Amino acid sequence: MTLQQETIDLADAVSETPSGLAEIAKRHLVMNFTPASKYRDDELPVFVRGEHCSVFDESGRRYFDGLAGLFCVQLGYTYGAEVGDAVREQLAALPYQTTWSVTHPPAALLAQKIAKLAPGDLNRVFFASGGGESNEAAIKLARQYQQTIGQGSRHKFIARRVAYHGTSFGAMSLNGMTAVRSMFEPLMSGVRHTHNTKRYRRPEGETPEQTTAFLLGELESLIVQEGPDTIAAIIMEPLQNAGGSLKPPTPEYFAGVRALCDKYGILMIADEVITGFGRLGRWFGSQHYDFQPDMIVFAKGIASAYMPLGGVIASDRIIETVLDGPVGMFNHALTYGGHPVACAAALKNLEIMEREGVVENVAELSPYLEERLTNVAQKHARIVGDFRGDGFHRSFELVTDHAAKRWEAEPISAGDFVGQHLNPALVEVGLICRVAIDAEGNPLVQVSPPLVMTRADIDELADLLDRAFTIASAGAGL
Ligand SMILES: Cc1ncc(COP(=O)(O)O)c(C=O)c1O
Repeated sequence: MTLQQETIDLADAVSETPSGLAEIAKRHLVMNFTPASKYRDDELPVFVRGEHCSVFDESGRRYFDGLAGLFCVQLGYTYGAEVGDAVREQLAALPYQTTWSVTHPPAALLAQKIAKLAPGDLNRVFFASGGGESNEAAIKLARQYQQTIGQGSRHKFIARRVAYHGTSFGAMSLNGMTAVRSMFEPLMSGVRHTHNTKRYRRPEGETPEQTTAFLLGELESLIVQEGPDTIAAIIMEPLQNAGGSLKPPTPEYFAGVRALCDKYGILMIADEVITGFGRLGRWFGSQHYDFQPDMIVFAKGIASAYMPLGGVIASDRIIETVLDGPVGMFNHALTYGGHPVACAAALKNLEIMEREGVVENVAELSPYLEERLTNVAQKHARIVGDFRGDGFHRSFELVTDHAAKRWEAEPISAGDFVGQHLNPALVEVGLICRVAIDAEGNPLVQVSPPLVMTRADIDELADLLDRAFTIASAGAGL
């Protein structure tokens, strides 16, 4: 039997199951970060449509999407037809053109729009197709800028522990998430990792000010130890996603990082792939925490993920320097950089976000989301060790030994609790959120819903999570 025949036979066979789509995917689709059990034993959900903050599977069952896809569907699922009209018009007018020494209306207008929204002199936009690709561009821009100003020895980057920046080789090298990185080493050389801003395990009684002082002291000593003139840039998310909604301990934290960058000639890159475009109640997380980076990396929310799009916003100073340098251009390119259809979708997305007051909605409702989820955390204090976050990005760290701040293996391990009780409970109540075992072995539950969420949606989200925790705890005998 040829491979072709085998494929056809299998498709015929599975078409006799309810839809056959899950089986077809299991047979042919290589999925992102998806364990083998999902291809073999587990049920594979097939989502077929969305509406507001919910998605529906092929049997018509509704799930509240507490994760906005993957931290990215800012508008939820109701605006596809409107964005689709803009996409269709662009496809009819000009489905493709490059931004290599030419331009077209969507790329030019979107770059102008982003420049208006971005803080300070961040006025120049290079487009890519996703977050990792955008971080690659930021790495190369930082290196080229440093070379152009006679600082060619600056090839290193400092990132933070547990942080996630993507899976392409440069972006992966920045990752502080060892599990994602280590089997592919050696990677891009010269990346060092500093502490992130997680306070839960800091010494008892340490104040936020003391945490900030500790973190800035550690960062400066790393810079000095590496040799300041070897470091091109520091990259940080305003609110670190991996590790669980890690916000700065005090406003002085990012001001202090900025001051160290200025003192030692290091560029400051804000990875705003998640925090960009409204998640914290401002257009950018760096505005929310009041600091001025030299570059912002964005993706996800720029087009509410209705189209793949990302990019880097750089300061006038960086781009002018590079253009005046020996190469005379930014020495980087992508066939799909500034794709007209993706840019048209993003322009429409931003127009809708402004029209509907989506960013303002996040600012207004964040305190209510915090209040409702704090109640959930308090009600389930037996298993919730820490509840933290900001804006529409919140995390619960689960522990059973509160004194040690750890999930103990007895009576049930963290992995078994998540796999046998929490994940099934979330499916039972119909709630999508991110559940992971964090770097320290504790279960982490993250919510990062669409930014169009209303008070009623917040009530529903909190009730669903409460029910899932109740079912999972009872099932595990906790
Ligand atoms: C902060 C951050 N940077 C970069 C990335 C990588 O983005 P992408 O998956 O689009 O390559 C992600 C993905 O979740 C992210 O959260």
